[in-house]
Amino acid sequence: MTKRLRIDGERLVRRIAEFATIGGTAAGGVNRQAFSMEDREARGKLADLALSRGLKVTQDQAANLFIAFPGREHEKPVLIGSHLDSQPSGGRFDGALGSLAAFEVIETIADAGLDYSLPIELVIWSNEEGSRYAPGTMGSRAFADGSLPKDIETLKDGEGKPLSSEIAATLAALPEVSVVGLGKPIAAYLELHIEQGPILEAENVEIGAVSSIQGTRWFDVRIQGETGHAGTTPLTSRRDALATLIQSLAELQATIMPRDADARFTVGRIAVEPASINAIPAVATANIDIRHPSTEYLDTIEELLQSTLNKYARSNGCTAHLDRIFDMPPAEFDPEIVSCIEEAAIELGFSVKRMVSGAFHDALSVQPLAPSAMIFVPCRNGISHNEKEFVEPVNCVAGAATLLQSTLNAITKIARLHETEVQTGNQKKMGTAL
Ligand code: GLV
Ligand code: MN
Ligand code: MN
Repeated sequence: MTKRLRIDGERLVRRIAEFATIGGTAAGGVNRQAFSMEDREARGKLADLALSRGLKVTQDQAANLFIAFPGREHEKPVLIGSHLDSQPSGGRFDGALGSLAAFEVIETIADAGLDYSLPIELVIWSNEEGSRYAPGTMGSRAFADGSLPKDIETLKDGEGKPLSSEIAATLAALPEVSVVGLGKPIAAYLELHIEQGPILEAENVEIGAVSSIQGTRWFDVRIQGETGHAGTTPLTSRRDALATLIQSLAELQATIMPRDADARFTVGRIAVEPASINAIPAVATANIDIRHPSTEYLDTIEELLQSTLNKYARSNGCTAHLDRIFDMPPAEFDPEIVSCIEEAAIELGFSVKRMVSGAFHDALSVQPLAPSAMIFVPCRNGISHNEKEFVEPVNCVAGAATLLQSTLNAITKIARLHETEVQTGNQKKMGTAL
């Protein structure tokens, strides 16, 4: 029997700590938002590590970063990776764990001088979070669509910086790394991520084999009223945009999640104009995030948002506009790749369970292109998008080991499938994703 390839757990844990200093916050988290100086520094650090090992590094027009074995970079790879950008008060593991574990897989294979029937390539997707420039999973969507976001020239961050110039500056920050076109054929995609929820920890399970992701929709809400004097305008004459928003949101909060345990409703951002202490708000805006495993339920929630906003707008003499700015339908991962993950976890002696992801991930954009799936590891108290986010080192190492083994299992499975195809002359395809 051949000796099993082992990742270097200490190197991985050290790297996670090193990268956490880039954009590190006083509370132990990170603020490394997409295309920021900190994001550029983290990408640069990884690119330097790869270049110093003689690996081939490229970036595409959406600032996705690729690390490949030289000589095999033109073959259809099994792509592994995640993202290095973070929430404004994010944790040190969301995205970084999967990215650095994927690099650990590449280094382990390079250290062992091994080669496989399919090349393994690493990807760092740009702007997964979408907190600075919505929507999230921007880089992987551009890769999958073969085109940049349509609003790249007009989209600005909170400080008025245009997306197009921030992407250009991010690309320019790596002058030694050539820029390639968007998208290319891939054989499969695997991503390791922290669960960002409480299930694995509560059930004392070491590895999640993610078989699907629930759907997400994001909305811009705009209530238009009229400003007026805070002290002199009686209730009957007020067209208060914020009062309308608050009344609508209070009703939606009391309805959507209490009625359905699978539904999620979050208001992450609110603003008013003219934002003066003694002036009635003329405009109130908000961002809403809704999630559900079923598209029909997402439709139902969206209708409820619209009707509730309209109801309170009417009763307050205001108007309400609801714009859907992001729609990520629920998706099923490829059952064969999910089995590769389960088998890998069992081979390595880890407990494993199939699960649905509550968060969206880049794997969702990539899965229409090639058989894909994700590996989850538990995080403390299920906390994420929070500086307190924490993954035990032993779980980071277990996740990386499972990523390596499931990638190798996927290569074996794909090679076997190709042999069968050649033998039967069939166009048999793997799982459901192709
Ligand atoms: C990803 O960051 C998400 O919001 O699910
Ligand atoms: Mn993430
Ligand atoms: Mn995140």
